[in-house]
Amino acid sequence: MEDVKVGRRFFLKSGGAAAAVAGSVVIPIQNAHAAAPGNAAVAGSTALSYPKAAVGKAAGMPVNEAVAFNYPDDQSLCYAIKMGNPVPGGVGPNGDIVAYSGMCTHMGCPLQYDQGSRTFKCGCHFSIFDPEQHGQMVCGQATENLPGIKLSYDAATDTVQAVGVDGLMYGRQSNIL
Ligand code: FES
Repeated sequence: MEDVKVGRRFFLKSGGAAAAVAGSVVIPIQNAHAAAPGNAAVAGSTALSYPKAAVGKAAGMPVNEAVAFNYPDDQSLCYAIKMGNPVPGGVGPNGDIVAYSGMCTHMGCPLQYDQGSRTFKCGCHFSIFDPEQHGQMVCGQATENLPGIKLSYDAATDTVQAVGVDGLMYGRQSNIL
């Protein structure tokens, strides 16, 4: 086999040429991406939008009591709670209304709200979730927080609406089908 000696100058020139070629490939891709319409993905999207569903009037909601409703469809149990003090993610005049999926993230058992500890408890395997901390899993068999129901508040009508879900509900591949 014959050894091929490559001079330092040739090597550097070759490297420079390769870098120039690589650069000429990258730049058009970036330019093409930048030139694409900003809503191209939206135009071709197959994502479904969440429905809006009335949860109730803020003034009429009881404090520290879970109010059951279904969202985003009739098969999905959810709870809204007016905590009585401002909480992270809370809506309403006092920022104290939050809502969550009512199904445990472990195996989907329906949750119960415990007014004494102000937590959601699962009777199946004793997981506990904190509605005042974004549905955080406190203890138990579950490994994920409760999916939160996104709420909006209309001050003019004092109406709380469910407008989306933050997290995947138990047993689903998609929250809306
Ligand atoms: S289903 Fe809730 S802890 Fe198992």
